[in-house]
Amino acid sequence: MKNIAVFASGNGSNAENIVRFFNHNNSFNAKVLFIITNKKQAGVINKVKILGVGSFVFTNAEIAEPKQLIVLLKENNIDLIVLAGFLRPIPIELLKLYSNKIINIHPSLLPNYGGKGMYGFNIHEAVLANKEKETGITIHYVIEEYDKGEIIFQTKCSIAEDETVDSLAKKIYQLEQKHFPEIIEKVLAKL
Ligand code: GRF
Repeated sequence: MKNIAVFASGNGSNAENIVRFFNHNNSFNAKVLFIITNKKQAGVINKVKILGVGSFVFTNAEIAEPKQLIVLLKENNIDLIVLAGFLRPIPIELLKLYSNKIINIHPSLLPNYGGKGMYGFNIHEAVLANKEKETGITIHYVIEEYDKGEIIFQTKCSIAEDETVDSLAKKIYQLEQKHFPEIIEKVLAKL
């Protein structure tokens, strides 16, 4: 059995989807044990609570100096950390301990539209402003530099002439829901 911890700061649609995929389906030999968040009001907390998964809130300082966090991860034999809308940097200590065992999902075709300031709707706004013909999602390993780790998976969607930020966000949401759990499963199979 492989144990997953999901780190999330926001709404939690990906976290919820990952919990549904692994925790409510016995054919996968893996489970989300808990969520780590830096926001005590994050939507993700209630979304997973009703699915029987608890959340731990850590302050930004406790994430930057992750002694307690590491104890929690080790005590629970966490094998893989999944970032799903987690908006804090991962400290070096944790990156070293979980080398190639931390993955992130990013709502663009990296290396395009990654890095500083590129999160949430900012990304879709920039993509539309540049009149791109396509965009997509990237799932990648996490390294010290933001959005620069090795790419595990990408998939694209086309951009319509009359595309809006909202309609694009819906397309990206669908890609994330469809692919993220399956890619996590593939990554776990290699551990
Ligand atoms: C997703 O678009 C993900 O790609 C990005 O942050 C967003 C999180 O959304 N990293 P949610 O909190 O899972 O709804």
